[in-house]
Amino acid sequence: MRIVLGVSGGIAAYKAVILLRLLREDGHQVDVIPTPSSLEFIGRATWEAISGRPVTTSVFEGVEQVRHVRLGQEADLVIVAPATADLLARTRAGMADDLLTSTLLATEAPTLMAPAMHTEMWQNPATVENVAVLRERGLQVMDPAVGRLTGKDSGPGRLPEPEDIKARVDELTGEGGQWYARSPRSGLELHPGVGVVQGEPDTAPSGRLSGRTVVVTAGGSREPLDPVRYLGNRSSGKQGIALAAEAAAQGAEVTLITGIIDAELPHPLPVNLTVQSVETAQQLQQAVLAAAEHADMLIMAAAVADFRPADYAQAKIKKTEDGQNPVITLERNPDILADLVRRRNASGRGPGVIVGFAAETGDESTDPLELAQQKLLRKGCELLVFNRVGEDLVFGQDQTEIQILASFGAQGVLGDADPVHVTGSKREAAVAVVGRAAQLLEATQQL
Ligand code: CTP
Repeated sequence: MRIVLGVSGGIAAYKAVILLRLLREDGHQVDVIPTPSSLEFIGRATWEAISGRPVTTSVFEGVEQVRHVRLGQEADLVIVAPATADLLARTRAGMADDLLTSTLLATEAPTLMAPAMHTEMWQNPATVENVAVLRERGLQVMDPAVGRLTGKDSGPGRLPEPEDIKARVDELTGEGGQWYARSPRSGLELHPGVGVVQGEPDTAPSGRLSGRTVVVTAGGSREPLDPVRYLGNRSSGKQGIALAAEAAAQGAEVTLITGIIDAELPHPLPVNLTVQSVETAQQLQQAVLAAAEHADMLIMAAAVADFRPADYAQAKIKKTEDGQNPVITLERNPDILADLVRRRNASGRGPGVIVGFAAETGDESTDPLELAQQKLLRKGCELLVFNRVGEDLVFGQDQTEIQILASFGAQGVLGDADPVHVTGSKREAAVAVVGRAAQLLEATQQL
């Protein structure tokens, strides 16, 4: 399911991190919307790292994507944990003064609120009335747990335990549950016990890749520097997602491994497409090695960081009195693609067709196409998708221009005197790449 997890400003925000993890373990896609004041308790980096999704709190960020309306419209379920007295009041009043309250106002998805506040606040007639009105409107407002509060006091007001909130979600969205129905916007069935929304098994498409297993990587890796900072890149993941969708449409059993992405996954997710999300290059390597072992095809569209900070600072790196600038030492990440080709060639096991990507800018003295050809031979893969990149070319765009270069085995010979050239949408590029790779797979197996 697509879930929006709203977090308002209370000390119990830390428990929402555990709730997020539980939801992610079940395979849900979760967009976290913290209120600005909740960031005083848990920072944006934590939410982004655990959800694997970009996080914004203000309606003025990502304005071009109309996030304040879109997130709420696309959600199958909205959860707010903790819901403070202030958040309950603003929701009741229909206010829209931050991204979370705007989302609550724009959504038609079932909404579950888990309150947390001091007992006096919970029992104040204003809060009592707000809760009653929200419940009347069909929102589920859980009763807070009873127990020790932030200070020395205890009583009703504790945030229910993350496991209890999760159990409530399962209960409401499970078969026979109140929300086991069609989500009003998407028309999707909310299936019991299924982590991601999937199509009916008998709708699995049959096509050129039926019976094949395909692994696709997408998005950018992120290398943490300290608890709040990271080294990342501008990959949106759009091309990789389009490739995975196309391979699934051709009937393959697809595993899509994403780094950090800023693009929508196919909705609904086809039954033959599984999504796994990772953060660092090393995590990506482990996931690729495991998934590719029995795969027929691997498409490495992810933008993998070649370097990571050699040391991770446990505490935020601070400015120093002496005005010295910090020095960040980097170390090499594994080359996942080249390493996998080597392992396959040595063992004879692994994907028959491996596709790499090369985003090249070139410079005054070098033609980017030549760089891509050299890269194809260096990496040893069968196909290499080359695109030119620059400030306003390709990253995050829907349009692209690619050339599909082929090599003949590991002999260092370039194939295809006239490589496939596509100018168009990333979907069109995906159709061409998957088609060319499928053709090669069929040809290799006829040898
Ligand atoms: N790649 C990889 N592991 C890395 C870096 C890149 O598997 N550590 C993969 C990418 O997914 C892509 C291909 O290799 O399919 C080419 O990526 P690119 O970053 O262009 O290649 P580099 O090896 O980094 O080449 P260079 O630094 O010379 O540009």
